[in-house]
Amino acid sequence: MAQKELVPGLAGVPAAESAISYIDGAAGILQYRGYRIEELAVESTFEETAWLLMEGELPTAAQLESFRKELGQHRELPSPLVSMLHDMPKDAHPMAVLQAAVAALGACEPRVPFGDEAAFRGAWLRLLSAVPSIVATHERFRRGQDPISPDPTLSTAGNFLLQLTGDRPSKIAERILDCALVLHADHTMNASTFAARVVYGTQADPYASICGGVGALSGPLHGGANERVLASLQSIGSVEAVDAWAQDQFANKGKIMGFGHRVYSVKDPRSHALQSLAVKLFDELGSTPIYDVALKLEQVVVDRLGDKGIHPNVDFFSGIVYSKLGIPTDQFTPIFAIARTAGWMAHLHEQMQDNKLYRPGQVYVGVAERPYVPIGERG
Ligand code: ACO
Repeated sequence: MAQKELVPGLAGVPAAESAISYIDGAAGILQYRGYRIEELAVESTFEETAWLLMEGELPTAAQLESFRKELGQHRELPSPLVSMLHDMPKDAHPMAVLQAAVAALGACEPRVPFGDEAAFRGAWLRLLSAVPSIVATHERFRRGQDPISPDPTLSTAGNFLLQLTGDRPSKIAERILDCALVLHADHTMNASTFAARVVYGTQADPYASICGGVGALSGPLHGGANERVLASLQSIGSVEAVDAWAQDQFANKGKIMGFGHRVYSVKDPRSHALQSLAVKLFDELGSTPIYDVALKLEQVVVDRLGDKGIHPNVDFFSGIVYSKLGIPTDQFTPIFAIARTAGWMAHLHEQMQDNKLYRPGQVYVGVAERPYVPIGERG
């Protein structure tokens, strides 16, 4: 049979029709359901955005209020899951814990038969509410602290910070995290969304599918880049050291974390928005030397690689914002997962309407058919 041409990484190959988000990578535009991300970051909230992604329209005031109430009621974790989080090794990476915990949550919840709208909605509420509780509860346990009960009256961002720290967050901290969640909520057919869709295409349940998304997000070429950005900035240490560090990376063809994107050839619009958030946070809480290192690194990398379309992506400034909020570095990617759960679930719901099992082909490059060699005749 004639073999089709291979497209490495399926770059640019449409995998689905989708009405959820839209990117113009050359112009640096990202829209959710037609709304520009810059506008949503300023005007919207994570709850409103999650509703928009799923339902296609912004909620009315009444819809938003009852949605917020429903989310608040789904935050308590089932006790087998709490025990599991307690028993996890203290040095386990939080993304590995989150992936296991989402599977465990699915095991504790009612089954979600494929195509059952009411059951799917229940899983949507449960995952949006429980994923932040899982991340915060695990963080408490690994620090040797007791978990904090959720507050159903707080926003997703505010409650997450409460469950993480034990203190009610300041208005600015809550708002900044809320904006960051809006910015990370969806991004067309990225690797983790595709992974979640592939699992869901088999008619597996949403929990199994979100596990697939969490696994894909954990890698350093995707969501895992944000913690590595901060590690790079910290290892550079000062503005004066940036040039030599970057020249070394260029000479060794090293990938500089937080730069480059499969779709954008200009600065990622989410990176612009996160940079503004960082500046706002510094106005409130005082600046941080790592930000100056980041600005210098951006300048050096863009001078050298900007012509190749290498500019800061969403992960470049997110770590600076999260560390200023006092969030541990290895919890940056789980926060990304909290936000992206909204996008993943919207994609699964979209796919449910017209599902087709993903089953791509391959270009076979192995040996031609040959006879079996009995073990005694092998060299
Ligand atoms: N630093 C230095 N050079 C880079 C970078 C980078 N961050 N990104 C791409 N390049 C160079 C490559 O070395 C390659 O150069 P060559 O043509 O001379 O061999 C060229 O640009 C193309 O790179 P690819 O990796 O083939 O491009 P691709 O579209 O597959 O990669 C990716 C996109 C994976 C995001 C890449 O830019 C990268 O690895 N970036 C660093 C990791 C990162 O920040 N990931 C987060 C992305 S955003 C997100 O997922 C949420």
